[in-house]
Amino acid sequence: MHRRLIAPGALAAASVLLAIPASAAGYSPGAPGIGDPYYPAYGNGGYDVSHYDLRLTYQPATDELAGTATILAKTTQDLSSFDLDFLLDVQEVRVNGATAAFAASGEHELVVTPKQLLAKGSSVTVVVRYSGVPSTKSAYGFSTWHRTPDGAVAADEPESAWWWFPSNDHPLDKATYDVSVAVPDGTQAISNGTLQSTSSRLGWTRYTWRQNKPQATYLATLALGKFDITTSTSEGGVPVVNAYSRDLGDGDGAARASVERTGEVVDWLSGYFGPYPFGSAGGYVPNTTTTYALETQTRVFYSPRQFANGSNTSVVVHELAHQWYGDSVSLKSWKDIWLNEGFARYAQWLWSEHEGEGTAQQLADYTYASHPADDAFWTVRPGDPGAENQFDAAVYDRGALAVQALRNEIGDDAFFAVLKGWPQKYAYGNASVADFREYAEQVSGKRLGALFDTWLFQPTKPAVSAVSAGTLTAPAQPKSWKKIAATNSLHGG
Ligand code: TRP
Ligand code: ZN
Repeated sequence: MHRRLIAPGALAAASVLLAIPASAAGYSPGAPGIGDPYYPAYGNGGYDVSHYDLRLTYQPATDELAGTATILAKTTQDLSSFDLDFLLDVQEVRVNGATAAFAASGEHELVVTPKQLLAKGSSVTVVVRYSGVPSTKSAYGFSTWHRTPDGAVAADEPESAWWWFPSNDHPLDKATYDVSVAVPDGTQAISNGTLQSTSSRLGWTRYTWRQNKPQATYLATLALGKFDITTSTSEGGVPVVNAYSRDLGDGDGAARASVERTGEVVDWLSGYFGPYPFGSAGGYVPNTTTTYALETQTRVFYSPRQFANGSNTSVVVHELAHQWYGDSVSLKSWKDIWLNEGFARYAQWLWSEHEGEGTAQQLADYTYASHPADDAFWTVRPGDPGAENQFDAAVYDRGALAVQALRNEIGDDAFFAVLKGWPQKYAYGNASVADFREYAEQVSGKRLGALFDTWLFQPTKPAVSAVSAGTLTAPAQPKSWKKIAATNSLHGG
């Protein structure tokens, strides 16, 4: 581990540590990772964040981001020091008002050593004053800060916070957010939740956003650039805020024709998943060259490439389905990714049926038939795909097949009860694949161990009988097939 001392104050702290008071017995540093098997260094141990308050300034011309993060947390052990995950340059850290020592460590850790020991269960306020040019920072040789011609975007999975705010970067530690960013007049700052206010002063406009429901760090987003913002309310009463880069060129119409249907799709999904869990919905389309979309909470990130071949309501359905499956109910560990992607893909199948472009069963049959038994597709286990295959097509497509297999096993009544009950049961919390199986067993009254094992955990093509009762000789390609296959591709529109 390469520890780089970035604060002279850290020396003073080192001498404080030499004189360990008697009460220090049992106090120890918080772990540098929260314990995720796929990403051991992600997140941190020893504390739980309840709120992030970010007050920032951004200059698009130079990509300079500066400001203050105020983090409200509670300790979960007797703590002598703790980590935050962060890459920008830190000028000052205060813990409960007092200046604290800090040092960069590892690939993305900021180690904070407060003057006072922190007893388990106590409330802690951490203030981090920082600045930097995010596009110059990388960890593990990569960066997920996306520069655009007129600004930048933070939207990535599983890591994007390191480039813009210090955090406990793991879905297990969800928190509420106030994000306030000043940008030069004429530039907009887009983030999650509701726009609380905008104010202009001396050539700068400040945008203040509030996310008042728990949110995972990777679902926090920030877009800085020249946007056209639209507002509306869905028929079901959900306020919708969308934003389009003013620089989308030819693709502008296709992007708007898709994303402006957010309210309609949210209402439609509510019929399957229950009430929309957040106070605002919407999406934004920045001028990026990235290819994917991401379910950033209440304000979905759409790459313009998702609309390169025309409007695409299917990707809108996918990302909005995640608001229930992934955002309100978050995974406990990254290996639980099926709970996100299997269900978001399945929602696209239901939408295909709604649009008359192929039923969920037809999509399942076609997916099943299009991968022969020796296709590497079947070697990926959606229930525990490994970090390298976390977003493999199999997690999505075989993942949705598993959902259809469940439906056929327990019948429509129980299946749709599960689909709607699950987001209620674990609303704003975290859950695992095992939790889901337990819930489905409880609702259906059936034992589902074998079914889950076959569809989610075996590296082989399952027997056909579990998918469809019908014959499976070369099913026709459903009309929605190509559009769905293009969604969420990390390597091409
Ligand atoms: N979760 C995203 C989706 O399905 C896709 C995705 C996977 C992604 N990895 C990503 C998006 C990395 C952005 C960056 O919609
Ligand atoms: Zn997805």
